[in-house]
Amino acid sequence: MNVLGIETSCDETGVAVYDTEQGLLAHRLHSQADLHARYGGVVPEIASRDHVRRLLPLVRETLADAGLERPDAVAYTGGPGLVGALMVGGAAANGLALGWACPVVAVHHMEGHLLAPLLEPEPPGYPFLSLLVSGGHTMLVAVAGLGDYRVLGTTLDDAVGEAFDKTAKLLDLGYPGGPALAALAERGDATRHNLPRPMRGKPGFDFSFSGLKTAVILAVREAEQRGAVDAERADIAAAFQQAAVDALIGRTLKAAQAQGLARIVVAGGVSANTLLRAELVRRFDGDVYYPRLAFCTDNGAMIAFAGALRSAEAAKAGPITARARWALDSLRPPGRAS
Ligand code: KG4
Ligand code: ZN
Repeated sequence: MNVLGIETSCDETGVAVYDTEQGLLAHRLHSQADLHARYGGVVPEIASRDHVRRLLPLVRETLADAGLERPDAVAYTGGPGLVGALMVGGAAANGLALGWACPVVAVHHMEGHLLAPLLEPEPPGYPFLSLLVSGGHTMLVAVAGLGDYRVLGTTLDDAVGEAFDKTAKLLDLGYPGGPALAALAERGDATRHNLPRPMRGKPGFDFSFSGLKTAVILAVREAEQRGAVDAERADIAAAFQQAAVDALIGRTLKAAQAQGLARIVVAGGVSANTLLRAELVRRFDGDVYYPRLAFCTDNGAMIAFAGALRSAEAAKAGPITARARWALDSLRPPGRAS
């Protein structure tokens, strides 16, 4: 069977078709980054309106790429995310499913990210430890199987992607800042500024990034006072990136050891970070898995894929699911009531 996936939880319109026999047939993405850049962050109303404009043409093009007139089922992101943006995808998905007389299923955005590495040619087997790092979430999840998730730790304040974006803003790198900051950090010396490693030595598996953010603010101010901020921008970026990556990896290795897990899967926007990838591979004894770069950040493929795995839950078009918040560990294996 094939499933059309629709992702509209934030500022990317993503559409894809996944076939349970043939794999991914087509995927397309429209990024709104340019629309939001002048505001320095995502403006929810602009995001919703642009999804309205882009979604149906993207669906038409993706179905044409896949050589299909209509799919067997439709999956859409039901949350967590911006409610207005989610409503656009949810309304379109339900309307299309009604027109095509096919079932529809709402997918959890973070389950989509969590499963994205399974789209790759050599997917990890269960169980594994998942480090989910995006603009809105930072989570360590023990994954025993599909829908069998135990959240071991989460962020107490900012998400790590948010910390990248805020630091980038502070360094005048524009929006979205994460990739720009990572690129600048390549040219910097991470040892020139000594930034804290948040939560190091603390019990448990939670994260915190607000202290690191404050330390960056102080480092920038201090550099400004010396008139050296332009010269040191790359060094500050590198020091921040190294501290954030160390904090992520420290907690992740500790959790893998405590849970006796030999596989680590990293997903979500920040999993595109090359230092994080390289350092984790270097420091972890077991196997490390990632999605391809295009499927680290938001995309329709992960939603089509998660929808296909949850096709047992697909039902006739009906009420739209659009949840700003949605606990990942409230999910259950397919077919079992949550
Ligand atoms: O998963 P995602 O596309 O959207 C959410 O669900 O939030 O993640 C976006 C986040 C942003 O904060 C962005 O700055 C960050 O991922 N990001 C990166 C990199 N690429 C994207 N952060 C660090 N290094 C990167 N290369
Ligand atoms: Zn995401």
